[in-house]
Amino acid sequence: MTGVDPVAGLPRPLRLGVLASGSGSNLQAVLDAAVPGVVPALVLSDKPAAGALERARRAGVATEVLRPRDFASREAFDAALVETLRRHDTHLVALAGFMRLLTPVFLDEFRLRVVNVHPALCPSFPGLNAPAQAVGWGVKVTGCTVHFVDAGVDTGPIIAQAAVPVADDDTADTLHDRIRVEEHRLLPAALGWLAAGRVRVDGRHVRVLPE
Ligand code: GRF
Repeated sequence: MTGVDPVAGLPRPLRLGVLASGSGSNLQAVLDAAVPGVVPALVLSDKPAAGALERARRAGVATEVLRPRDFASREAFDAALVETLRRHDTHLVALAGFMRLLTPVFLDEFRLRVVNVHPALCPSFPGLNAPAQAVGWGVKVTGCTVHFVDAGVDTGPIIAQAAVPVADDDTADTLHDRIRVEEHRLLPAALGWLAAGRVRVDGRHVRVLPE
């Protein structure tokens, strides 16, 4: 069988680090899903006031905050992220609304072990405000994507996508609310497939093996 199992050889359950800058509804979905084979071990934020941190505390998950302004460069910040994740023994990372781009300092340490959830059907509408981009463009269908993270903006190999129709009267917010419903299903599912050893990566192409 061709393709790489990104988590082959890692101890189970997989200790997951979640990076989040915002309200943390995707983090909550991962916590609530109790994904088989995955233990949420750390929630790390670049924003001390992030709602995600409060959600983690309520769930008894360790939290850390690293503020970018305390570091001289993006690379120094990313090195601290790596050190913190290592200190908490995490080997898999989920970006759940983490609003910063990661440099190779981080990505080389967690190659194919960082997944992101993006509120659009990649490669459409990368970057910030994807639901607003979709409304502005007038597309009839958008959605969400769970993908491995590479050095680009929402460009990494796609694990899963879900479609969401755009209504004529949608605003960016009403659309984003419906996209989140799909994200909350897809992100825990993708983490479960990874933990079950069902994901194979071959260059840009990701296959999810049947159960
Ligand atoms: C999600 O829509 C995610 O796709 C994007 O940021 C948003 C985070 O939302 N990257 P939340 O903090 O998980 O509610």
